[in-house]
Amino acid sequence: MRKPVLAANWKMNHGPSDARAFMRTFLARYSRRSDRSVIMFPPAVTLPDMVAATKERPDILLGIQNIYWEDKGAFTGETSASIARDAGARVALIGHSERRHVFGETDDQTRRKCAAAARAGLRPMLCVGERLEERRAGETEKVVLRQLHAGVADLDPAHMAQMLVAYEPVWAIGTGQTAEPRDASAVHALIRGALKQLAADRASEIPILYGGSVNTGNAQALLAAQDVDGLLVGGASLDPEGWATIARS
Ligand code: 13P
Repeated sequence: MRKPVLAANWKMNHGPSDARAFMRTFLARYSRRSDRSVIMFPPAVTLPDMVAATKERPDILLGIQNIYWEDKGAFTGETSASIARDAGARVALIGHSERRHVFGETDDQTRRKCAAAARAGLRPMLCVGERLEERRAGETEKVVLRQLHAGVADLDPAHMAQMLVAYEPVWAIGTGQTAEPRDASAVHALIRGALKQLAADRASEIPILYGGSVNTGNAQALLAAQDVDGLLVGGASLDPEGWATIARS
């Protein structure tokens, strides 16, 4: 049985001082539970404060929202997987739709980033998802499978077993328009099938999260949907009370 994974992606919100105040409220409202995993992706410069805030709470894992694929060198402004790990990250979000569609990240770059994360001992959380026009054109399966295959192309089965996948339909991100639980289930089942081919008996270890306008009102129904192993939450994770409610879903 896979434990549910509840993940918060703060995107470009909550610097160190906000994060310290947030964590005081959140930790008071979310007590340690062994039946789920909680992962939080703050901005990279907020990581040290999050490490300090979670010192007594090893049940909360920290992640980085993006990494560069080279291990070190003259790449001004970038963060390598090993630097992120040194700063306290254990998971790396890779290929988030904003990376793909705002910053032009390609499938090939997600492949290199997943491999870099695995080399440095970070668990990649590979994000996949179709745009509205692709959904309307009946291309959801094609797009999701292409992004999935590209992202994992350089991972061996042992590293694949460590990864997580997040299905985030682009049309549902930040729009208030959530996928129906049955629509999410259909795509999650497709991803699960592809993972079985790629990682054989290790595939069942890989959690598949849903993301896109998750909130306190819909989190439980989405989490209960077939093949949905967790949630990746953007906007609704910015409020400590709301995030605590979702983390307890
Ligand atoms: P929202 O929950 O704000 O729609 O964002 C989803 C997301 O992109 C999480 O990574």
